[in-house]
Amino acid sequence: LSKQYFYREMLLRFLWLIVAVLCLSRGTNKRVARSPSQWSRTRKAIRIPTVSYSPTDINATALHEFSRLLRKAFPTVFSSSLVQHEVVADYSHLFTVQGSQPDLVPYMLLAHIDVVPASESDGWDAPPFSAKEIDNFIYGRGTLDDKECVMGMLQALEYLLLKGYRPQRGFYIGLGHDEEVSGLNGALNIVRLLKQRNVHLSFLLDEGLLVVDGVMKGLDGPAALIGVSEKGSATVKLSVTSAPGHSSMPPRESSIGILAAAVKRLEDNPMPMLFGQGPERGTFEHLAHKFIFPIRFLASNLWLFAPIVGRLLALKPETNAFSRTTTAVTMFNAGVKVNVLPSVAEAYVNFRIHSAQSLQEVLDLVDSTVGDQRVKVEVVDGFDPLPVSSYSETSYGFQIIKKSILDVFPQLTVAPGICVANTDSRHFKDLVADIYRFIPIWLVQYIGRLLERTLLQGQSQHLQPPLKTKP
Ligand SMILES: *[C@@H]1O[C@H](CO)[C@@H](O)[C@H](O)[C@H]1NC(C)=O
Ligand SMILES: [Zn+2]
Repeated sequence: LSKQYFYREMLLRFLWLIVAVLCLSRGTNKRVARSPSQWSRTRKAIRIPTVSYSPTDINATALHEFSRLLRKAFPTVFSSSLVQHEVVADYSHLFTVQGSQPDLVPYMLLAHIDVVPASESDGWDAPPFSAKEIDNFIYGRGTLDDKECVMGMLQALEYLLLKGYRPQRGFYIGLGHDEEVSGLNGALNIVRLLKQRNVHLSFLLDEGLLVVDGVMKGLDGPAALIGVSEKGSATVKLSVTSAPGHSSMPPRESSIGILAAAVKRLEDNPMPMLFGQGPERGTFEHLAHKFIFPIRFLASNLWLFAPIVGRLLALKPETNAFSRTTTAVTMFNAGVKVNVLPSVAEAYVNFRIHSAQSLQEVLDLVDSTVGDQRVKVEVVDGFDPLPVSSYSETSYGFQIIKKSILDVFPQLTVAPGICVANTDSRHFKDLVADIYRFIPIWLVQYIGRLLERTLLQGQSQHLQPPLKTKP
């Protein structure tokens, strides 16, 4: 999720970590109490700089070190006869856990080992690879993206195996090593391996959304959002070429003017309002009772009010993304000298595509909105929104994740949601229909408010870590 500015901010400012453990098997949901050794293992994981700089520039030394850490930290996982471990593409890992009932279709848990670069000059409160503990918070790159999942899953498995647990349903744990730079080596080779073996999966769980609290305006209380799809994306390059000339004899329209007008048309004519036609409908319907009045009333009656709710959401950039494909002009380049008319002007526009629209539909609309032969429109890259995973009452994956969340956080409302960033899970879309994106992390606004409240009330008692105060 490195691409998401939001996440970066969180990482920089209030890094914290919950080793909450999801055990996705029938009837055996257990919360593993925080223990010093569990903490220290996770901190060791944070200290290894498994940074991905580009698809061809990864830190092999750190990745090897990480493999050694896993073997050392989870001896039972690596020695159990129930677990088969394989290294994939040198640094990624695939664990196959046998179930006692082979007729039950296995599921898969996914996480990634690598992190995006971090430099101490970025304003960290503690060095990014120090895993320093300050007031019960662990600071460091990867604490919530995504080493807490890597360590949490293996910790859960280690714990359960030690307890003599044997799952009925088999499952896989996949750990990619290059998610931050596309996953084309790690995740994709895990997919290849599973395809070769003709593996069918009942569902897949990866990182993505989390527990939000105070993030959505008008929502009363915290909610766990399980990502059931990812928005699509398109990057379009617009360019205008004209004869170069001197500024003393300008033509009536310059390349810059023509391009600027085209860009303005794209901003003035946003993509169509689609609120209610994608999984955002499910988000609002599931959360309806938690909204304050009058949003509650509107959200409970989307059959009638979807257009109004969509229009309200469109008023703010944070919520506009729910209601349509967003248009963002991100680069505009032209000109080198004050007295020379540039021969080329170019701009880049990035679209995040709503689930109810396709890449092609967006491109067609861009063409017709630009509507000027002099403006060349090229697609730099793009892909369709991901398929929407099921989230009905009978959806096995969705319901078992929901049940696991409620076992750990009983006070939450669980709802489907849409991810705006992409994860390794997209490589699995031919292998499994139901892909869910959720990590059991309580988003920082909660912590922020807790701190604020404590400070305001002048309480001097030591703040409890989130796992102790909340669930
Ligand atoms: C790669 O990781 C090792 C530790 O495993 C570290 O000592 C080294 O500085 C890292 N290299 C880069 C370029 O980050
Ligand atoms: Zn991630």
